[in-house]
Amino acid sequence: MKHANIILVGFMGTGKSSAGRNLAERLDMTFIDMDDEIVRREGCTIPEIFRDRGEPAFRAIERALVQELAARTNLVISTGGGIVLNPDNIADFSRTGRVFCLQARPDTILKRVEHDTNRPLLQGGDKLVKISELLARRQPLYDAIPLQIDTEGHKPADTAEAILKSLQELEGNE
Ligand code: S3P
Repeated sequence: MKHANIILVGFMGTGKSSAGRNLAERLDMTFIDMDDEIVRREGCTIPEIFRDRGEPAFRAIERALVQELAARTNLVISTGGGIVLNPDNIADFSRTGRVFCLQARPDTILKRVEHDTNRPLLQGGDKLVKISELLARRQPLYDAIPLQIDTEGHKPADTAEAILKSLQELEGNE
């Protein structure tokens, strides 16, 4: 049976990839982490793409991948935190799937990404300040997604469970 896609959006460190992998296993769907897919296809890391070609080039690669994935089915997709910057990305994903937004507080996000060097937008300077500023700028975009999942104090499996529950409720209402 073909399933509508499930798309996880949210700021860096909200647990999209771990929860997405868990969810895909439980639903027997294919898991795609967009950042990993970009790294595999481009043959270089995300920081290298930002450094050598700039953020607009990364956003263009991301945009093309959204269009490709939105045309497929049976996928659980973990997106990069900046996917909400282009409203067309959310519109495309919403046409063919359920989009969930995962949320967490800046201090929780910091704990999850503290030792990570793979996120160019958080490099250099005080990480908590960077997270807080970037999150504050993007918060309205995340809050605009109708399906919200609070990940505070939850393990990825609990987050996956909350998404499953929400999906069941949505299907019950259809
Ligand atoms: C970004 C988030 C990252 C990655 C890139 C840009 C962002 O993904 O796509 O570093 O703009 O928030 P994660 O949310 O998986 O860390």
